[in-house]
Amino acid sequence: MIDIHTHVLPGLDDGPQTIDESLAMLRQAAQAGTTDIAATPHLNNDYSPDADLIEERIQELQAACGPSPRLHYGCDWHLTFENVTALLDQPRRYTLNHGRYLLVELPHWVAPEGLTPVLERLLSVGITPVITHPERHAILRARIDLLQCWVRLGCALQLTAQSLFGHFGRVAKRASWELLSRGLVAAIASDAHDLERRPPDLSQAWRAVESRYGREWAELWMITNPGRMLRDADLSQPAARPRRRWWF
Ligand SMILES: [Fe+2]
Repeated sequence: MIDIHTHVLPGLDDGPQTIDESLAMLRQAAQAGTTDIAATPHLNNDYSPDADLIEERIQELQAACGPSPRLHYGCDWHLTFENVTALLDQPRRYTLNHGRYLLVELPHWVAPEGLTPVLERLLSVGITPVITHPERHAILRARIDLLQCWVRLGCALQLTAQSLFGHFGRVAKRASWELLSRGLVAAIASDAHDLERRPPDLSQAWRAVESRYGREWAELWMITNPGRMLRDADLSQPAARPRRRWWF
């Protein structure tokens, strides 16, 4: 599996603070079947790691952990005024492997319609916003029409794996399955921060998706599309929506 959203780098944000903690998270991910991990520290008003520092930490951690899992560059980019201004200057500084895909966490205090022109602006400079965990956003999860409109404009949606099981509440759980069943989701990621509460483990999500919709959908959301994001390739757009198997 390929995980495009994790906080595994030591000392850059609210993820692990030491390299030993980071290494334990990588081992856990590898044991769960993850081959590739994007290290995506927060970039917001609390944390502002520079792109060069992220690259440096990735190299150090990869050297310490060995070849598996493979680490990739990324950032959990929060949509703030400062971040947008900096991005327009250097659009691919914080994107996944410096390609077109940028993890974008939307603010919780803005009327969501007001975000459409900002997302359009990002698209206009060649960025594909990957909107992180809309199911955990109290306003957005009630506005599936708007999420649908953003996907049509060219944005992608990423769910947090643990939302599927109620870790972020019943409403988030319902919204995640709803977004999946409508075919709006491009990828499922762990958004891991530690070993226990928010671990880098996609295996439970894989099993749940596989048993509900079939293996091809687990593959699409946890291998194919995340892999394409890391390679800066076009996403796979299935012709039909996932359908629950008859026993569901
Ligand atoms: Fe995150």
